[in-house]
Amino acid sequence: MQVVVVGSGAREHALAWRLAQSPGLTELHAAPGNPGIAALGRCHPVRADDADGLLSLALTLEADLVVVGPEGPLVAGVADVLRQNGITVFGPSAEAARIEGSKAFAKDVLRAAGVPTAETLSVARAPCVVKADGLASGKGVFVCRTSDDVDEALRAVTAFGGDFVIEELLEGEEVSLFALCDGSRAVPLGAARDFKRIGEGDEGPNTGGMGAFSPLSALGDMDELVARIHQPVVDELARRGTPFIGCLFAGLMLTPEPKVLEFNARFGDPETQVLMPRFDGDLLVALFAAAGGDLSGVEFGMGADAAVTVVVAGPDYPARSDYAGAEIAGIEAAEATGALVFHGGTAVRDGTVVTNGGRILSVTATGETIGDARRTAYDAVELVSFEGAQYRRDIAHA
Ligand code: AMP
Ligand code: GLY
Repeated sequence: MQVVVVGSGAREHALAWRLAQSPGLTELHAAPGNPGIAALGRCHPVRADDADGLLSLALTLEADLVVVGPEGPLVAGVADVLRQNGITVFGPSAEAARIEGSKAFAKDVLRAAGVPTAETLSVARAPCVVKADGLASGKGVFVCRTSDDVDEALRAVTAFGGDFVIEELLEGEEVSLFALCDGSRAVPLGAARDFKRIGEGDEGPNTGGMGAFSPLSALGDMDELVARIHQPVVDELARRGTPFIGCLFAGLMLTPEPKVLEFNARFGDPETQVLMPRFDGDLLVALFAAAGGDLSGVEFGMGADAAVTVVVAGPDYPARSDYAGAEIAGIEAAEATGALVFHGGTAVRDGTVVTNGGRILSVTATGETIGDARRTAYDAVELVSFEGAQYRRDIAHA
């Protein structure tokens, strides 16, 4: 099969890496991809949000499957354009991707589906959480514990320009739970813990995610959670005539009854960087079956091993995500330890890998325990370097 992965981050590199192991793969392509993915297949200079460009690429390559990674293109309707032209796509339509693209839409679906979530409040009074309505790369959410926090949050969401929602502040451990969906079924994929804040000890502003580990001991029965949380949402979206095909990602707070903080319409980044190394099954078969509308009979799950990923970011991340041109050293040495180095924001200049983004690399390792995986991951992280590199030293510490 000819497969096109859409996107250019470490998540897409991890998906490409796993897809490259599928016996059914003939050739792997990416649009636009990155230097890490280029080692596994062919990268094409087509932007992830260029629907027409992706369509002509898919038609030229006679692609059997297109896997869309990032939320922006999904919300903008890239999957619709491809699907309307007969291409098999793993990724939801624009209408179904509103589960991520609009907090207000998500609340409405959750209410209709009867899925437990934080209560919506009509006034912003601490403690509460204020969320900008649209996509904001994890940076549009403000947790308010004091009235000063509320003032600041209201100023900030106003600056985002659109609507916002206010909800009850939930306390507990956060987890990311993923299911592959074929329009009518939600099949559990796996769970991971993401570290969202830039600073150690969960200090400082929110980011896209600075590291992750999997599995999670505190989670409980994953099948039961997916049946209670993902399946009703898939049912509700199907009932509305907008079936969800793709990866449905629930951000949960483990309150006594787990509650949904948000849904995303895609794989998580950096969660995918720990799920793919643990994935047990044929990823191409699973994504192709989901995209074709029938996951029944496809077996997949997570292996018994543990995985940890540490994100190495540019110096001004998350304020800026455009750290370009710093030479990166030590990637091969890090890989020689057995770790996987997924490229997130890199480019090749004059034959050298340089920084080109915010979250530059995701250094991942597996092991028998989380502790083993963490040690290997950090040993590898210490071997990579570039001017201004920053990473958290407390990812997956007990
Ligand atoms: P979201 O984009 O909605 O996942 O929000 C980003 C982050 O804000 C979440 O991962 C949580 O850490 C935090 N958050 C969002 N909603 C709530 C809530 N109702 N209570 C506590 N924390 C929240
Ligand atoms: N790591 C969280 C996300 O992908 O949104």
